[in-house]
Amino acid sequence: MYEHDLLIIGAGLAGLRGAIEGIQEGLDVAFMTKVHPVRSHSNAAQGGINAALASRGDDWEDHALATVKGSDYLADQSAVEVMCREAGDAILELEHMGVIFSRNEEGKLAVRRFGGQRVARTFFVGAITGQALLHVMYEQIIKHEARTYEEWFATSLIMEDGVCRGVVAMDIKTGELHTIRAKAVIMASGGAGRAYEPTAQAAICTGDGQALAYRAGSPLMDMEMIQYHPTTLPTNGVLMSEAARGEGGYLLNSNGERFMEKYAPEYMELASRDVVSRAEQTEINEGRGVDGCVLLDLRHLGRDFINERLGYLQEVATDFMSIDLAEKPAKIRPGMHYNMGGIKADVNGRTDIPGLFAAGEAACVNIHGANRLGANSLLEAVLFGRRAAAGAVKFIREEAERSVGDESVKDSESARLQQILDRPKGPRAAAVRRELALEMDKNMAVFRDQAGMESAAAKIAEVKNKLPSVSTDNKGRIFNIDLMSVLQLENMVDCAEAIVAGGLMRTESRGAHNRTDLTERDDKNWLKHTLAYQTEGAPRMDTSPVDITRFEPVERVY
Ligand code: FUM
Repeated sequence: MYEHDLLIIGAGLAGLRGAIEGIQEGLDVAFMTKVHPVRSHSNAAQGGINAALASRGDDWEDHALATVKGSDYLADQSAVEVMCREAGDAILELEHMGVIFSRNEEGKLAVRRFGGQRVARTFFVGAITGQALLHVMYEQIIKHEARTYEEWFATSLIMEDGVCRGVVAMDIKTGELHTIRAKAVIMASGGAGRAYEPTAQAAICTGDGQALAYRAGSPLMDMEMIQYHPTTLPTNGVLMSEAARGEGGYLLNSNGERFMEKYAPEYMELASRDVVSRAEQTEINEGRGVDGCVLLDLRHLGRDFINERLGYLQEVATDFMSIDLAEKPAKIRPGMHYNMGGIKADVNGRTDIPGLFAAGEAACVNIHGANRLGANSLLEAVLFGRRAAAGAVKFIREEAERSVGDESVKDSESARLQQILDRPKGPRAAAVRRELALEMDKNMAVFRDQAGMESAAAKIAEVKNKLPSVSTDNKGRIFNIDLMSVLQLENMVDCAEAIVAGGLMRTESRGAHNRTDLTERDDKNWLKHTLAYQTEGAPRMDTSPVDITRFEPVERVY
């Protein structure tokens, strides 16, 4: 049994930034991750991080407007205001921590323009921004003596009288379960992208935090809002950063036309992601695609520029497509990239469960609404990771009580895991995940309709029925990835269920939720968030109002 003031689940940018905050406040902080921290999925964010720096003549309100418009007016505007006001300080703090941001000819921090924004305010490190930030954040953390539960996997929250007081977790190396008590827990465990196939999200993104919170009674908010990134590889979903278009790349159809002219004449390739993904899918569906893709063309940028600013994309093109971006356009298509929805949380990370906080992609603070702007996710991670920890510090100082010390959750979790290991030969977790994930990519994708979403709901019911018989070949406890796969599958199924339930409930088209059978945005009835609560049967659905402060919803054109 272990005990800490603050336990953070996840060691991506949100988790690490939160840990630094807690340590600086003098708390006993621990963080837990199922992989080494620098293998967290924040690594994969490529193109940059947004901030409107007043010293550059930029205006946080313009960033806020772009974010709210990008969200198709579903974002909570007071939360967006917090993010956009504090973004400049977050960037400078990262620079002072040691992030070597790319610089312009004058030696100042360089910026590129990202989608859905009129001005260039995306700070970057080539096309490896997430990786650069994550490594610097990790360097910062190892200066301190935070306890790291590395290669540990949380299987359940410990709830006492409705309050979260820690987790039960498995040390993957030994397979042993442990009780880790904490006065507050921050869920910073990332997305649930592996419920889709293909996806740009790493194999570790299995919605663990969302599922644990959901089972403990927290609502999952706006889960139907799934971002399809316009430029992913058709074979494996690997991301080709928006930086390619930010630096001037073109999107072409099979006729060689820059088709975005039809869909977003002003912003062209730099419209919001949902708009560009829909345009691409329309071109493909109407027969103007190339092998089920459209083309990303960088040839006019020249080899030197590509290598300097987009070197990582050149590597991806070489490794996965055997092409040279200076010579040949890349075949790309929309691919699952990001969960806009997640554990309902406020700007201080507070969830509906006392003692449980959430930040980063696992959370839904609702700054992204129905469509996230590119480069707002790294910002969200560092900024709301810090804020969630500050919220947890306050909670610990003012409200938290020590756990009563009951070990019953560990005992019941231990029995649950043993029951999985004891199962006779049944379906394999990987095959069942694939079945689920292909269905999600078919019917909960760029375009949706009632029949498709009902088909997805039926598939989820079928997969849920199979879950009790999904078995492991490895019956041991030591580094049993087979067992982990079953637990992760259960987590993805819970997330998928909430995604589809939200989609079926939302009878309109808004942002990434685009229904071909209900094509209009319906502000009269649907300026609302969806909330999914877990029950024994189908999720119980509810709604909550959108917070509108300064930007009245208007028609969204780019
Ligand atoms: O395209 C990209 O570089 C992705 C960035 C993001 O999702 O924020």
